[in-house]
Amino acid sequence: MLEEKYYPNKELFKDARIKNMCEYKDLVEWAKEDYEGYWGHWAKEKLNWIEPFEKVLDESNAPFYKWFVGGKINVSAQCIDRHIDSRKNKAAIIFEGDRGDKQIITYLELYRNVNRFANLLKNEFGVKKGDRVVLYMPMIPEAAYAMLACARIGAIHSVVFGGFSAEALRDRILDAQAKVVITADGAYRKGKPYMLKPVVDAALDGGCPSVEKVLVVQRNFEDVVWIGGRDYSYNEMIESQADVCEPEVMDSEDPLFLLYTSGSTGKPKGVQHSQAGYILWAQMTMEWVFDIKENDTYWCTADIGWITGHTYIVYGPLAAGATTVMFEGVPTYPDAGRAWKMVQEYKINQFYTAPTAIRVLHKLGEDEPKKYDLSSLRVLGTVGEPIDPPAWKWYYEVVGNGKCSIVDTWWQTETGGHMISPIPSATPVKPACATFPLPGIMADVLNRDGSSVEPNEQGLLCITKPWPSMIRTIWGDDERFKKSYFSDVVKDGKPVYFSGDGAIKDEEGYITITGRVDDVINVSGHRMGTAEIESAIKKHPHVAEVAVVGKPDEIKGESIFAYIVLKADTDDTLGEEVELTKEINEVIATEIGNIAKADAIVVVPGLPKTRSGKVMRRILRAIAKGEEIKQDTSTLEDPTIVAKIQEAVSCANC
Ligand code: WTA
Repeated sequence: MLEEKYYPNKELFKDARIKNMCEYKDLVEWAKEDYEGYWGHWAKEKLNWIEPFEKVLDESNAPFYKWFVGGKINVSAQCIDRHIDSRKNKAAIIFEGDRGDKQIITYLELYRNVNRFANLLKNEFGVKKGDRVVLYMPMIPEAAYAMLACARIGAIHSVVFGGFSAEALRDRILDAQAKVVITADGAYRKGKPYMLKPVVDAALDGGCPSVEKVLVVQRNFEDVVWIGGRDYSYNEMIESQADVCEPEVMDSEDPLFLLYTSGSTGKPKGVQHSQAGYILWAQMTMEWVFDIKENDTYWCTADIGWITGHTYIVYGPLAAGATTVMFEGVPTYPDAGRAWKMVQEYKINQFYTAPTAIRVLHKLGEDEPKKYDLSSLRVLGTVGEPIDPPAWKWYYEVVGNGKCSIVDTWWQTETGGHMISPIPSATPVKPACATFPLPGIMADVLNRDGSSVEPNEQGLLCITKPWPSMIRTIWGDDERFKKSYFSDVVKDGKPVYFSGDGAIKDEEGYITITGRVDDVINVSGHRMGTAEIESAIKKHPHVAEVAVVGKPDEIKGESIFAYIVLKADTDDTLGEEVELTKEINEVIATEIGNIAKADAIVVVPGLPKTRSGKVMRRILRAIAKGEEIKQDTSTLEDPTIVAKIQEAVSCANC
């Protein structure tokens, strides 16, 4: 493909760590020739070890790889303590609330707050190394303190996104067998309060015997129910905690956190990350991909409930000694200029967001960025879903004023950090293209048999060698880990990591991500399993069968489209159907959360199934899109069903 290329503005990246493509290629070659030497070098150079590691990579029990074997480290010390000498008065976190309230937390203050928090968990709640702590938190600095406090005492945190329902929260608490839940009374969104503590109460009311204590950050919301002996006030307890809590000595491979994410089948999976490898890559990618410099102010708009918030709001920026902005609100409230106003006010140098946010901001205010001084910006990042060329161009030309580098970063909860991305100081980019694997990451586009796909043909996006920040296992389910990631593609006799994404590599080696090829859908950059949504919908008493697919959406990337078959005795007149749609969405909101509500729910007489009973989702996807059916339908149990479904969809649309 011979699209035009955009070259880095060298003036902006004068002392970059990777200055040009020659330096990039040297690093790539080094990693190819001496993989362990390469990673060992960075681990020694970048991390403050309590005890050095003995071996870089242990592959003896593949795919359960071990990195930096024998090394001892503490991630909170890597993120905080090591900066105290040189950066104690530097802002570590700049917080801005939904309503415009502000707070600056220096590295020294962060040190004190995290140490006190760690002492509270350890001494008052008896949390020990290896215990699981669930966080159900809004975007407030205490959420970051809580994560780092867990890391300090060796507890394994599991952050659950604040938009998940009580049921979804309970599922995650139960799976992780958490001892403590940390929450806040409430939060604000678009100027309106919403409550979190009642969701925790409802989750625990359903029965979570492992949970001993709930710690509540109080933000002065009223009418919060308090359960004596279980609920404790952070605000009351924190003051009396000592300022120093010695960091626990952690093995490189001890778990650091769990983060639940959706797969193509079954319940969400507790992706388990470990200490040293994760923090190494979080820090290095901040330096390479965001070109983070001592005086930069960096802003990632994600929520800490997702991996982007973990790696690129909390762990990566702090490990790199940067100033990270934490924002409680949404970039479109009170108006489409909010984000740009913040960029101007804080003189943001790196701005990182999702394509959906870019499309919304574009739609709401084509020229809005021009009203603000955005000249501090150097790097503009995108993540979470494929970006389309028009959104890319607007980001580049209007937000970046044609001078910033755009980094389209491809990665996943499981990869811990960026895998494929331009280096802003070096890579000539093609619009809407993630470009090349980062040095040391062996990403490739393959066929199922491990052979390379022809240039410009779609294939499976795989990573052919283990990397330090990779998922270690699925919490409590080693078999599912192997099956989910190491069973689809085999190269040279060895299973390799398959991401679930499709991709295209052109003749120059540029990789463009085409999206999921499994039953995972990506709505506004939020990853959801169709199986999960289907099992929620099945809880509605009138639903006999259901199939959920993603339908391309101009703003959200994909929207949720559900086909349902009603039980035989259900009256399916149109009036009923409207009511039913509402009810089904309520069931989804209860079981998962509002983010999983369906945009379309269509009652159909049956699903297109093969004679062996498999639902042909490709047909359902094509019908949702309004496409002609090209697939052979003669193998269906009932070939006439396709026309009937098409008719139901066109009726629902009219
Ligand atoms: C998608 C988010 C295209 C992809 C960090 C992946 C992307 C899933 C990109 C992971 C990108 C992420 N271009 N698609 N730059 N980045 N994705 O686990 O489908 O929430 O598999 O991690 O998001 O979503 P997750």
